[in-house]
Amino acid sequence: MIDLRAPWNIGPVEVPTRLVLAPMAGVSVQAFRRQGRRYGAGLVCSEMVSCAGIEHRNEKTLGYLRVAADEHPLAIQLFGSDPRPMADAARMVEAVGADIVDVNFGCPVKKVTRTGAGAHLLEDIEQACRIIEAVAGSVTVPVTVKLRRGVRNGSRAALELGPRLVEAGAASLTLHPRSAEQMYTGTADHELTAELVSLVDVPVVASGDVTSRVRAQAVLGTTGAEAVMVGRGAQGNPWALREIVDGDAQEPAREEVAAELVLFVREAVRELGERRATGFLKKFYGWYLGQGRFPKPFKQELLQLDSTEEVERRLLAAAPGARDILERLEAEIPSGEEMTLELPVSIYGGG
Ligand SMILES: Cc1cc2nc3c(=O)[nH]c(=O)nc-3n(C[C@H](O)[C@H](O)[C@H](O)COP(=O)(O)O)c2cc1C
Repeated sequence: MIDLRAPWNIGPVEVPTRLVLAPMAGVSVQAFRRQGRRYGAGLVCSEMVSCAGIEHRNEKTLGYLRVAADEHPLAIQLFGSDPRPMADAARMVEAVGADIVDVNFGCPVKKVTRTGAGAHLLEDIEQACRIIEAVAGSVTVPVTVKLRRGVRNGSRAALELGPRLVEAGAASLTLHPRSAEQMYTGTADHELTAELVSLVDVPVVASGDVTSRVRAQAVLGTTGAEAVMVGRGAQGNPWALREIVDGDAQEPAREEVAAELVLFVREAVRELGERRATGFLKKFYGWYLGQGRFPKPFKQELLQLDSTEEVERRLLAAAPGARDILERLEAEIPSGEEMTLELPVSIYGGG
């Protein structure tokens, strides 16, 4: 059995547990990252941020990324197709206090790959290496890369590209062993992750279909990866992180679920503003309240409401004990200075 509480390193950055919270566009806002840290993620990652914002400010955006003191260690993920703007963006990322600059070579969304970014770079080895060289040469923090296996089904491009990226300066690689073409269908083929581990001398993080401690142990044990990354399994379910890291499989009480959701709502509103948060939050209601935690009609009711204040009121009425938990949670969150990264959070996410 692997101790998921054993620290490991990405360059000089110590990561306190073997669980990394996945970057997810439209999901990995600050509230999600801070919550992930509280429940056992050793490293959290922002959703992808576009370096195109440096040159032209017309990128469609969900807003700007905010960094708080209790997120560290934090990786901020960049995507783009050219070395120069990526290096400039990396300097900005370092300046707002990111501990790691992560580069996205996995996003399968056409709007991104069409620009020569994301998964496109899996098959443009020379350009991919130029980007990593430029980024690694422009910052002092470690630079990491997140990959898919390749563009087409069955591709093994990541195995050719991975070692080259390490030569170019990557301090760690995360592999989501699905092809871009696959999007999220089928299963993650972690045999490929094991092959990548055997080819590089930097830590590899295994991403894909890890939703439980049993699965995490199996993936770590069979691949030799240093850590697992958890994405969809943590949506509306920070308790899954606790189960994976500590083996604590207790289902959360209804009050606990309501308290975490209200806190999440408040934090999202603070971060995104009421108007954007209202739409952004809708998917989270289903994620939190599903799994038999609340009756279905209650979730439907919340979706109809048009203010987050009203959502909060209904949640606290449905689980009155949540108030005390919420108070305790809010007291624990440090309210310190925040830094804002002046680069657009892209709405075209994926990886
Ligand atoms: C909604 C969503 C958005 C995502 N956005 C990103 C992203 O911005 N950058 C990235 O590298 N991967 C992104 N991914 C991929 C995840 O980080 C992860 O590799 C993938 O979901 C597989 O892990 P899972 O099975 O634990 O979800 C996204 C995945 C989802 C579901």
